Amino acid sequence: MVKTILKQVKEYKLPSILTPLCMIGEVICEMIIPILMAKIVDDGIGVNNPNGGDMGIILRVGGMMLIIAILGLLAGLGGAYYGSMASTGLAKNLRKSMFDNIQTFSFANIDKFSTSGLVTRLTTDVTNIQNAYMMTLRMAMRAPASLIIAMVAAFTISARLASIYLVAVAFLAVLMVIIMNRATKYFKQVFEKYDELNESVQENVSAIRVVKAYVREDYENKKFKKAAFNIYNMFVRAEKNLVMISPVMSATVYTCILLISWFGAHMIVGGELSTGGLMSLLTYCMSILMNLMMLGMIFVMLTMASASGKRIAEVIEEKATITNKENPVMEVADGSISFDHVEFAYDEDCEQPVLKDITLEIKSGETIGIIGGTGSAKSSLVNLISRLYDVTQGAVKVGGIDVRDYDIETLRDQVSVVLQKNVLFSGTILDNLRWGDKNATEEECRRACQMACADEFIEKMPNGYNTEIEQGGTNVSGGQRQRLCIARALLKKPKILILDDSTSAVDTSTDAKIRKAFAEEIPGTTKLIIAQRISSVQGCDRIIVMDDGKVNGFGTHDELLKSNDIYREVYESQTGASGDADFDQLS
Ligand SMILES: Nc1ncnc2c1ncn2[C@@H]1O[C@H](COP(=O)(O)OP(=O)(O)OP(=O)(O)O)[C@@H](O)[C@H]1O
Ligand SMILES: [Mg+2]
Repeated sequence: MVKTILKQVKEYKLPSILTPLCMIGEVICEMIIPILMAKIVDDGIGVNNPNGGDMGIILRVGGMMLIIAILGLLAGLGGAYYGSMASTGLAKNLRKSMFDNIQTFSFANIDKFSTSGLVTRLTTDVTNIQNAYMMTLRMAMRAPASLIIAMVAAFTISARLASIYLVAVAFLAVLMVIIMNRATKYFKQVFEKYDELNESVQENVSAIRVVKAYVREDYENKKFKKAAFNIYNMFVRAEKNLVMISPVMSATVYTCILLISWFGAHMIVGGELSTGGLMSLLTYCMSILMNLMMLGMIFVMLTMASASGKRIAEVIEEKATITNKENPVMEVADGSISFDHVEFAYDEDCEQPVLKDITLEIKSGETIGIIGGTGSAKSSLVNLISRLYDVTQGAVKVGGIDVRDYDIETLRDQVSVVLQKNVLFSGTILDNLRWGDKNATEEECRRACQMACADEFIEKMPNGYNTEIEQGGTNVSGGQRQRLCIARALLKKPKILILDDSTSAVDTSTDAKIRKAFAEEIPGTTKLIIAQRISSVQGCDRIIVMDDGKVNGFGTHDELLKSNDIYREVYESQTGASGDADFDQLS
């Protein structure tokens, strides 16, 4: 995991090395200052000197102090500058790698991570790593270095007095390990709670209209409050442990100062220690204990970051389940489709496959209707054709070649699917249409819209084809959105066009117009039309009746009326007196 994360440092290696170097420079400067200070007090002011003070020494040493202080400041600035550069650079690379890898994910990969989980990983988790990396670069070297230097310096001044520090450090170290251990336990749980929070926000915001329609604001509010409160709770619990550190630190620091002052004063009287020496010791006291605390903080940050790191590494390391074969086929010969004893399950461990033993032959240019109750696996069936999922057993062939042998882009360019859950993106109508073909001229876009019966309403819009679509396509109606999605799919000029319940929100006469346009304008394209209304598929060359993951019937409208019970019953209920019955009311 650490390796995966550190690999992403890439072009920021130099700042990553310069940061600790600068910090060590700063520490060295900081540590020299108390020594110079002692010299000014002892020799310059002349506390220990019977001949009195020496202004020359004060000026000379004071000048040196100034230079060293400036050097220290510069090193500190350098550390901060390079540290920010390295850590923000790492964050940028992590986000980019995750995002790039997510783009290669197949539907199966996406099913594995929840969307909110991915959002947390791209945002909060990366920020954690960024902070921890910055802190580590700047402090991981600095804190131990200054701890050691201060300790050595203190021992050279007076080994006897400095041993007080050893006791204090040992005491604090043990105490801190205990406290931090308890705190990290809570920090680790925080991230799962973040997922919950993001899920609540995401679901609510993207479905705010449904929430309002069902007057579920109160419930959603409560859900959000609970998720936010859980995070608050975890942090409070963790911090409750951490707050103990500050008073314990202060108590230890002041005890040390008291002890050092007490014993130091005695030693000065006895002539064993200089006043300057005592002053330096007191400065080192602060430095040693502060740095110890800093180390503890780094420890907490790293444990928090390791939880985030694992979650990020999971995304970066996730292998796309659908990839190109070596030497893939780059050309789709025609629009014929065949299913050869296909079995498919979303979850490999699942006992009951969603599709069972499907064998079908569809000729190039045929128009095929697919009909069946909800959950009868119509969408699952067609999703196999453009390889949105891979079969578990058997093979799906397009143009006589197994879909797994094609270059994925080539295949998907030729198999255009209007998904059941389709969305538009923010941008103008033209932008959205050009997802189908980025080089399409405005004229071509207009043609596609005419075929999909989208031209009428687009022309009525204030800016026509340049009307802005809002995020998620909320400013067009359901039927309008479906028609735009069909136009978008048509622009690909595919050999196979699949419409998954894509005219469900379109009125019957427009639906008929679209089908007529298809028959006239793109006769060579194989068309698969999933629908709930028999009228939508009645005119197709052949119709597949799906039932519970199996093909129940496959033939023309007339053949099915004679031979297929399910089909006949639905037909009678939809055309007969009972009106609008559908599949689900039959069983
Ligand atoms: N992404 C998924 N992960 C796991 N199971 C799924 C997934 N999508 C669908 N299923 C399951 O597969 C079965 C078939 O679903 P499918 O969407 O193919 O039905 P459908 O015939 O298209 O239904 P509808 O008419 O409602 O669109 C259902 O039982 C469903 O629960
Ligand atoms: Mg479906």
